[in-house]
Amino acid sequence: MSERMKAVRQHAFGGPEVLVYEDAPKPRPAAGEVLVRVRAVGLNPPDWYLREGYKALPPEWRPQVTFPVILGTDISGVVEAVAEDVGDFRAGDEVHAMVRFPGGLAGGSRAYAEYVSVPASEVARKPVGIDHAHAAAAPMSLLTAWQFLIDLGHDAQNPLQPHPHRPVPLAGRTVLVNGAAGGVGHLAVQLAKWRGARVLAVASGRHEAMLRALGADAFIDYARDAPEDVAREVDLVVDAVGGAASGRFLRTLKRGGTLFPIFPLGFSGGEEAATRGVTVSATQVRSSGAQLEQAGRLLDDGTLRVVIDSTYPLAHARRAHERAEAGHIQGKIVLTVDG
Ligand SMILES: NC(=O)c1ccc[n+]([C@@H]2O[C@H](COP(=O)([O-])OP(=O)(O)OC[C@H]3O[C@@H](n4cnc5c(N)ncnc54)[C@H](OP(=O)(O)O)[C@@H]3O)[C@@H](O)[C@H]2O)c1
Repeated sequence: MSERMKAVRQHAFGGPEVLVYEDAPKPRPAAGEVLVRVRAVGLNPPDWYLREGYKALPPEWRPQVTFPVILGTDISGVVEAVAEDVGDFRAGDEVHAMVRFPGGLAGGSRAYAEYVSVPASEVARKPVGIDHAHAAAAPMSLLTAWQFLIDLGHDAQNPLQPHPHRPVPLAGRTVLVNGAAGGVGHLAVQLAKWRGARVLAVASGRHEAMLRALGADAFIDYARDAPEDVAREVDLVVDAVGGAASGRFLRTLKRGGTLFPIFPLGFSGGEEAATRGVTVSATQVRSSGAQLEQAGRLLDDGTLRVVIDSTYPLAHARRAHERAEAGHIQGKIVLTVDG
């Protein structure tokens, strides 16, 4: 019989109540993989999209899922073992990763567990200056912000548009970040500041102090003012809320400006964008150990800070998902795994 571990699994789609903490087979590293003993798991929206069965997607786009499923992509932990052909990592190394994304969208990433096997090419050394909780909180949000704003870093086909996504210059530009308090948003604010932009952060009022502390030059409380009406002549809008409402930001941008809808599904402002001379571009985040290591240096030297909204033990993943459903997340939700 295979070795066992604890994991959070689900045997059907549904709400947070479908998440069950139970025994599961312990993975073994296949060729090219490392086995990581997980110390913390970072939560991301794809976790709840998969939990619910991707019900927001048209049926033909929904990945085929086989139960039981282990959710999650983002981990930090300690290398337990490596496949024979892996030379870059060895047992005892502290690492973090976004595991198999987007390849694992149907449940192949399997992060809500005591052990995860990860392709070595997706693994980065954990920044020494931060703990496992913060290192687990970073990967998907940081790689998303990095690939949108700094460097796409790959030439895989873009599933969201016919042409590759391209970051735009940030130095001296005015950048509005909508959804600025969330996982992607709070890192996008900091990356844009690091690259010399003037940053307008849009979030609900409770997040103002945090966002100003992270460097935002101005703050718009969307509950009091419609950001698309308050801001004008912006060079770049990073819409980390996205969806059908993203088009309202077209009038906020100057001619020649750019809109990055981080969640572009439902966007229908293509014609208006062309009339206004605005470029709209999106991409789907992809796992990369090399990029995570590069961006992680900014976590190490304090240029970037990952904010943690709340932490829960792995066994209480259901409560963590209930927290996510309540909304207004400030930074990241993290699961901790006993060492
Ligand atoms: N393209 C990709 O590959 C990619 C990668 C990662 C994420 N995403 C998508 O990007 C989106 C953001 O992801 P995330 O991880 O940052 O999510 P998140 O951590 O859940 O953040 C959402 C944030 O949006 C804020 N918000 C909600 N409604 C708002 C509104 N009307 N105006 C301004 N802010 C609002 C929330 O706080 P307040 O309401 O309190 O301000 C919260 O802080 C998700 O839709 C996700 O699926 C796409």
